[in-house]
Amino acid sequence: MSDLTLFGLSGALRAGSFNTQLLLQAASLFGGNFNQGDLNLPLYNADDETSSGIPATVQLLADQIASADAIVIATPEYNKAPSGVLKNALDWISRTEGKPFAGKPVALISATAGRTGGETALGHLRAWMVPFQPRLLLGNEVQIAGSMREFENGSLISERYTATLTTLMTRLRAEASR
Ligand SMILES: Cc1cc2nc3c(=O)[nH]c(=O)nc-3n(C[C@H](O)[C@H](O)[C@H](O)COP(=O)(O)O)c2cc1C
Repeated sequence: MSDLTLFGLSGALRAGSFNTQLLLQAASLFGGNFNQGDLNLPLYNADDETSSGIPATVQLLADQIASADAIVIATPEYNKAPSGVLKNALDWISRTEGKPFAGKPVALISATAGRTGGETALGHLRAWMVPFQPRLLLGNEVQIAGSMREFENGSLISERYTATLTTLMTRLRAEASR
């Protein structure tokens, strides 16, 4: 099927982000349609929510998640956890109606400078996703260590990492087709 829609989130906002590069390579391996969410959102503040409701940028994100066939989330590891940018987005999304992640196949991936490739951050992220009730893919962990040495022209250099990402995206596509 070439008409499946993958939706991607990158927990890093910087232009040269390795996580965004990883996300885009994942999308290319998945095939089909791809859209990326904009996580440049206001900081969650319950007073703002009470006075102004859900921001349009957050509602758009929730709608994009709800209408996708599968989701991939790439996060950097910041001080042994996923980025605050990603947590803020998840907190906002949790305030929207309709549980947009519920039942969706979701793959979690990471690229970090350190030697563990974001293993600790991914462990936290898996736990963070529990309230959203997605169909989380487990195994075939894509944890790119030494991120600054692992990308060239926007793609992974190593055959081993590329093979793991390919396997994960093949599984994600199969889950989305079920
Ligand atoms: C505030 C901060 C904390 C970081 N903490 C970690 C860490 O705990 N583990 C790690 O492997 N790398 C850590 N790094 C390095 C990032 O993983 C690395 O810069 C990564 O490439 C950032 O993702 P990006 O390329 O998608 O922006 C940290 C970087 C920053 C800015």
